[in-house]
Amino acid sequence: MRAAIASAEVDDDVLGKDPTVDRLERRVAELLGKEAALFFPSGTQANQTGILLHTEPGTEAICEAEAHVFHYEFADAAWLAGVQLVPVPSERGRLRPDDVRAAIRPGDRHHSRTTLICVEQTHGASGGSVVPLKTLAAVRGVADDHGLPIHMDGARIWHAAVVLDQPLSGVAEVADTVMASLSKGLGCPAGSMLAGPADLIERAWTIRKRLGGGMRQVGILAAAGLHALEHHLPRLAEDHARARRLFEACREIDGLSPVEPDTNTLRIDVTRENLPAAEIERRLHERDVWILALGPDWLRAVTHRDVDDAGIERAIDALRAAMT
Ligand SMILES: Cc1ncc(COP(=O)(O)O)c(C=O)c1O
Repeated sequence: MRAAIASAEVDDDVLGKDPTVDRLERRVAELLGKEAALFFPSGTQANQTGILLHTEPGTEAICEAEAHVFHYEFADAAWLAGVQLVPVPSERGRLRPDDVRAAIRPGDRHHSRTTLICVEQTHGASGGSVVPLKTLAAVRGVADDHGLPIHMDGARIWHAAVVLDQPLSGVAEVADTVMASLSKGLGCPAGSMLAGPADLIERAWTIRKRLGGGMRQVGILAAAGLHALEHHLPRLAEDHARARRLFEACREIDGLSPVEPDTNTLRIDVTRENLPAAEIERRLHERDVWILALGPDWLRAVTHRDVDDAGIERAIDALRAAMT
């Protein structure tokens, strides 16, 4: 990837002339089965552009209650788009169609109007869970009944396609616009894509510029993205298998209760009293194993291409030692 970055052919992407960005945008649009795609510096900016595209100030967007757009984007939908997010609770990101239907408001003398439904695939907060296609198809049905668009936060859509054994386009089909990150499991230093209909992506270009996301010779990052799609995408299943190995081992460690992973993200609940997750994180760091305490009593471990089988065994040893 470093070599691809170094040898990337570049030009000014603010003028729309960078050939490597152009190649990446076409490739991602093709993979996701959309007319067009646009490169963004971050997933947050691409998600928020998606929200801005579909909504207008003073309206509402429905999302899952643990969604990244709701919890981890600094109330951007309100701050940037003037949109009120309506969080709908679910089991592991699997929105129930009836709950979504109940949250939709047509706009009347008392209520604001729903203008968008956001879904997340995979669902990050529950540990990278894959949302079944039929669940999302049912949500699409509700959206269609009300003439509403769907934006998918597909930061980790790549993993869902592997687990579901579907083409990416099949996973993305349910949504009008899709955000997909290059900088997570695919291992790029930065970059996320927003894909959708050509007219919306044309408008997204203006929004990105307004948000300060226009970048000049950014083909260096696009080259990383193209490299990742060719070389890293096909190997994601290895990371999933290693997360499972870690899960199996954690089940045997007293004081840990791991949640069975669908993909490369493992949620580990800590069941021992008086041992905060942050202390376990600290003990692992001392052994040069990186894990994140995301709450007082749970940790998140993510497997990726820089962690091989030996690395997983070392992490398991470190966890055992930390819990002893
Ligand atoms: C599900 C999900 N959506 C969006 C984002 C935002 O991506 P970024 O960190 O590139 O802004 C993240 C980041 O972790 C994420 O996990």
